[in-house]
Amino acid sequence: MSHHQPDPNKSVTLTIDGKPVTVPEGTRILEAAKKANVNIPTLCEHPELCKRALCRICVVEADGRGKLIAACANDVWEGVSIVTTNQRLLNIRKTIVELILANHPQDCLSCIRNKKCELQSLALSFGIGASLFENDAQERQPQIESETLVRNMDKCVKCGRCVEVCQEVQTIRAINTSHRSYEYEISTPYKQALEESFCTFCGKCAEVCPVGAIYEHDQTAEVRAALNDKSRKVIAQVSPNLAVAVNDELALSADTITTGKLITAIKLLGFDKVFDASIAENAVNAEIAGEVKQRGNGGKLLPVISGCSEGVANFIKNFYPDLADHLTTVKSSRRYFASSIKSGYAKETGVELSNITSVSFLPCLAHKYGAGSPQDFAITAKELVRMLKLAGIVVETLAETSFDNINIDLPKQESSVKKETVHGYAQARKVMEAIRDGKCETEWVEILNCPESDSC
Ligand code: SF4
Ligand code: SF4
Ligand code: FES
Repeated sequence: MSHHQPDPNKSVTLTIDGKPVTVPEGTRILEAAKKANVNIPTLCEHPELCKRALCRICVVEADGRGKLIAACANDVWEGVSIVTTNQRLLNIRKTIVELILANHPQDCLSCIRNKKCELQSLALSFGIGASLFENDAQERQPQIESETLVRNMDKCVKCGRCVEVCQEVQTIRAINTSHRSYEYEISTPYKQALEESFCTFCGKCAEVCPVGAIYEHDQTAEVRAALNDKSRKVIAQVSPNLAVAVNDELALSADTITTGKLITAIKLLGFDKVFDASIAENAVNAEIAGEVKQRGNGGKLLPVISGCSEGVANFIKNFYPDLADHLTTVKSSRRYFASSIKSGYAKETGVELSNITSVSFLPCLAHKYGAGSPQDFAITAKELVRMLKLAGIVVETLAETSFDNINIDLPKQESSVKKETVHGYAQARKVMEAIRDGKCETEWVEILNCPESDSC
């Protein structure tokens, strides 16, 4: 195998389990196999992350020499004959899964990732019921909870995905690896709490974790308790992007569940009012635009820096403390809903403010950070799906309902401002450097947690 730079304009022909396939040079064996409709099982691999080849589940044989190579980490080469399935490979993969399970809490039924866990599906596909190896995971580590994320490192399969996404994609480095071999573990620097680290609570680590080792802090029980309390009014705001995330979570095609159907479902859960989250979002945008104009008049502290969630302020304070004065003083749209819109609703209906619970349904868990009041919750698409399943509500079958109206005075955006939206922290760093160097021409920089999405 030569080590020259692959040229994607050149093609390579090989066979996978006897099927000929032609792919561009530089294609990984795993991807070539997909093209040949051959599924090689994986665990540590993630399509959006680099090659790590830590778990070895994806081993295949090349050129009949019995040599084992990781399909996720090796590129194809001309004429190679790859074997992905034979008794030897199946035994190797099964043993790897059994060894992981031997050191894993066997509590799938009560795990938050039950039926959505990559380790569980591997075990099922290899016909592994209970692990043959003695379960040596007696010393349990405490579950570490924050208001946003829960970490249960007993369940960690050491795939390294979270470390890579935090360090390389988001450039935050709030989590790292320590020790080697059997002692290898995923931790925070000095084992500090995430709150004490540089974490921005973007939630990317939870998103890529294949098992139940990092996940969102589930607040559905608290929300259900509020719904069951007859003395309380519970109001919701629903993000326009929630339906996309719910369809994703239920593995349905994009338009199966619409916002209208979700409104009906949320009402069926017992919510008193369901408002459009764009109301709070527009009000926040108008206030920030006003702040831009105000600062512009004084000629200092532009651009204004805002974020899709409260964690963005951590990023600025930890990495660019000299720019902290640029941060907007306007609260996030989630907090805006929990204060301004909630008090508007209290005034409109005469209900005591302290008897109102507000719930923001937003696709991603980053919004859980910086809750403010214990009576206000941010619920993700995953949590909503859990609530609906528990209540036996099948959203697909429901009729559509419209959002409720609210009759309160909200700020309106009077003038347009020059705004730049930045995706993820790697890109945000470039813009922050430009601000430092006085090379940022824009009046308002909005940082979104996710490198890949337009809004959330
Ligand atoms: S939430 Fe984001 S910043 Fe925090 S540890 Fe996870 S990936 Fe890193
Ligand atoms: S916490 Fe999850 S993503 Fe991180 S190494 Fe462990 S299993 Fe992989
Ligand atoms: S999936 Fe290839 S080594 Fe883990």
